[in-house]
Amino acid sequence: EKDGYPSFMEKEIHEQPRAVADTLLGRNDSHGKLTLDELRIDESILRSVDKIIVIACGTSAYVGQVAKYAIEHWCRIPTEVELSHEFRYRDPIVNEKTLVVAISQSGETMDTLMAVRHAREQGAKVLAICNTNGSTIPRESDAVLYTHAGPEIAVASTKAFLAQITASYLLGLYLAQLRGNKFQDEIKTILTDLAAMPEKIQAVLDHEQQIKDLAVSMKDVNSVLFLGRHVGFPVAMEGALKLKELAYIHAEGFAAGELKHGPIALIEEGQPVFVVVPSPNGRDSLHAKVVSNIQEVRARGAKTIVIAEAGDEAVRQYAEHVFYVPATSTLLAPLLTTVPLQIFACALASEKGYDVDQPRNLAKSVTVE
Ligand code: BG6
Repeated sequence: EKDGYPSFMEKEIHEQPRAVADTLLGRNDSHGKLTLDELRIDESILRSVDKIIVIACGTSAYVGQVAKYAIEHWCRIPTEVELSHEFRYRDPIVNEKTLVVAISQSGETMDTLMAVRHAREQGAKVLAICNTNGSTIPRESDAVLYTHAGPEIAVASTKAFLAQITASYLLGLYLAQLRGNKFQDEIKTILTDLAAMPEKIQAVLDHEQQIKDLAVSMKDVNSVLFLGRHVGFPVAMEGALKLKELAYIHAEGFAAGELKHGPIALIEEGQPVFVVVPSPNGRDSLHAKVVSNIQEVRARGAKTIVIAEAGDEAVRQYAEHVFYVPATSTLLAPLLTTVPLQIFACALASEKGYDVDQPRNLAKSVTVE
């Protein structure tokens, strides 16, 4: 049932083009209009939402951070992201105009379920993004947007992560469309870009050997840092989490801009640092800022491993290793830049002889608070 792969995790990493394609399926008509009929929350309610709070745990919480950048940009609705267990116990400000988005692969995470119940008691509408049909969180929510990643067996999440990000883009685009704001042209472009994603993810997988070789060569490192900005920040944190979960290596993800406010003190000769670089064709000076962050850590002896967009030659001179991913719009990049980080963690842990499907101390769904 592993289809010839050595682990479920490797199989699931390779199922990601399909997971994203299946999550997009049937939700976009040929005229660039989204249809999320299954949502079942009255359109007038969705139009009147004045705040979104995304709640989730673990890898699903990083999806929330990506969703925040996308939803705020496309919909101009203030969006917060909070860990379910923090949200639940801090008396959050929630009312009838709040849309709470609960993201859970399993639909059974107790921390998130308790947060869902609390939000509904305060009058909020709750929309679940979930991969498991008929599980508790969607049953207790007002609406559900299912991801179609198929069953995820490996404890640490991979294909569900990409499917959840896809679903949160769909939600953001749908709300933007519904509320008829000025981004309608951009929405069409993004939908076209999304449709091309499965192929681009496959292109990343086709070059996995490069990152696997790197992982093997780094099997004895004891600390790895990950830097990113904008949507690259949650990707960096997910890269770090994967390495902790699978390879039991100390790893941390930082916002690249935060480097000079503290983490740069950690950099010493030979410290491996992954940097997730945004598209050079993206907005503002995001790319230039990240390139200068690479230079800063390099100047202090870091071994820099850069994930960048194909054709980005500017990063080469500052990088020990460059791994290129296909070009796409800035907000969609996490669907591509996360993949090499998953492959890296999985390959490194396998090289160390660990069971990547069942890491120590972890459970697939945590049904206690
Ligand atoms: C953890 C799992 O316990 O729960 C993680 O080990 C997962 O992989 C997290 O991201 C949240 O799970 P879910 O099912 O709510 O997305």
